Amino acid sequence: MYTLSAFSIKHFLAENWQRKPCVLHNALPNFEDPLDEHDLAGLAQEQDIDSRVISQMDGDWKVTEGPFTEFEDVCKGAWTLLVQGVDTHIESASLLMNAFNFIPHWRMDDLLVSYSQPGAGVGAHIDQYDVFIVQGKGTRRWQVGDKSMKYAKYYPHPKLQQIDEFEPIIDVELLPGDILYIPPGFPHKGQSITECMNYSVGFRAPDQTELFQAIADDLLDSDKLTRRFIDRNRTYIDRPSAISPKDIMLLKQLLQQYVTNTQIDQVLTQHLSKQNEYLDAFPLETPLPSSYILALINQGVTLQLACGVRPVYLDYQVDDEFIFFINGHKFSTSATARLETSRLLDNHQTFIKFNAELTHDWIELIRELINLGYLEIVEED
Ligand code: SIN
Ligand code: CO
Repeated sequence: MYTLSAFSIKHFLAENWQRKPCVLHNALPNFEDPLDEHDLAGLAQEQDIDSRVISQMDGDWKVTEGPFTEFEDVCKGAWTLLVQGVDTHIESASLLMNAFNFIPHWRMDDLLVSYSQPGAGVGAHIDQYDVFIVQGKGTRRWQVGDKSMKYAKYYPHPKLQQIDEFEPIIDVELLPGDILYIPPGFPHKGQSITECMNYSVGFRAPDQTELFQAIADDLLDSDKLTRRFIDRNRTYIDRPSAISPKDIMLLKQLLQQYVTNTQIDQVLTQHLSKQNEYLDAFPLETPLPSSYILALINQGVTLQLACGVRPVYLDYQVDDEFIFFINGHKFSTSATARLETSRLLDNHQTFIKFNAELTHDWIELIRELINLGYLEIVEED
């Protein structure tokens, strides 16, 4: 378990989140790396995992994308191996992400892990999303500049965006267990002093394009009735080509009525629960029968969310069912099981023992979640 210490979350949220970069020294005391470079190299050999090596030699930048069958030819000069979505594959990496659960699941993206050689880095750049960079083994110098629009972007390699040097407002050497928080838009640059492992806990924030797309996709998939434009109060005009400001306003109101209607809340929630296709790759080969699950719950069992599973539900639901989503998939149970269910979704591990409140349908839901690979049975030692 990774727990943040010596770090006031409330103060951080008020002062830093989305506002100001900061260094949280020793926020994860006695930090133990959730994986090593060999594990990372193993992941980088897999088909569906996003990996790349970024190297620099005599001022020449090179980016090679995985999967890799061998590393010798690409790992030249000052190189960094980066692997995306490690939280879906390695349990301890998923646990490291849980340390940041004070930000809701739907805002989280994934864990990017990098292994870098002394002198290596990906160069000065700007990211569009918030990130906590956890220092694992080794020492790395990090510089962060102020947010400004004036940084010119360029590509030293077609797949690598960098910016010019910047004036640092933070210039530190991070040690194991230190964390650097960088809000979107702040230029930064890491350069390893020794060989390093770094863990970037990445967030996401939808833009209007993405949200409208989600709403439009839902509209196209369903046969929902939508309201039509009405203009009973039309007045005389003599320029038929012109659309009046009033008509535009009415059209925008029509749109606004749709997006502010509570009927799309679950559509947005479903969209925001989507993580990645890989998460759906691990159903049990032999699905467990109801009798087995019932026996387990009768005697009491600890269940845990599988690697990288981050469920999402609407916090206000007034219907007689309780709906939640995992990776875009919808699940529901009766409203009376809301407390028991949300406990399971909000915590990494939950102990469950049969009681009169637990219905057959709820136990079937648990079975489904286990068989799909989203929930795991924690074996007693
Ligand atoms: C890295 O770990 O080298 C990349 C992290 C970043 O700067 O976004
Ligand atoms: Co970055």
